[in-house]
Amino acid sequence: MKLIIAAIKPFKLEEVREALTAIGVRGMMVTEIKGFGSQSGHTEIYRGAEYAVNFVPKVKLEIVVPAQLADEVVETILKSAKTDKIGDGKIFVLDVAQAVRVRTGETNDDAL
Ligand SMILES: Nc1ncnc2c1ncn2[C@@H]1O[C@H](COP(=O)(O)OP(=O)(O)OP(=O)(O)O)[C@@H](O)[C@H]1O
Ligand SMILES: [Mg+2]
Repeated sequence: MKLIIAAIKPFKLEEVREALTAIGVRGMMVTEIKGFGSQSGHTEIYRGAEYAVNFVPKVKLEIVVPAQLADEVVETILKSAKTDKIGDGKIFVLDVAQAVRVRTGETNDDAL
């Protein structure tokens, strides 16, 4: 199993969710976050040593899928979250050791 973590623009959430459910994604976690990427919002040197950073609102998706679906999930997020402007987001893929469905005790791919 793989965990895909994606930070996207908030107004893209519904489009991304629809595209992901269309390829078979059956669950995800969604969190409103703030963050910064390579532009750092605007990064300024403050009092010589400190940095004041402007955080930008994003939505974080956490999606666990069978390993063979991970590439398609990444491609689907790429297509549906893209506006071609800065701040379109970032995607990370991690390995997942275990998944359990609480109601049934099913594990791993069966629990997704
Ligand atoms: N290295 C990182 N680690 C963790 N989260 C990150 C990282 N880079 C970006 N993010 C998250 O992704 C969000 C969007 O980043 P963003 O799209 O601005 O990346 P970028 O590298 O600046 O690309 P772009 O040049 O297209 O803006 C950030 O607000 C932050 O939440
Ligand atoms: Mg950026």
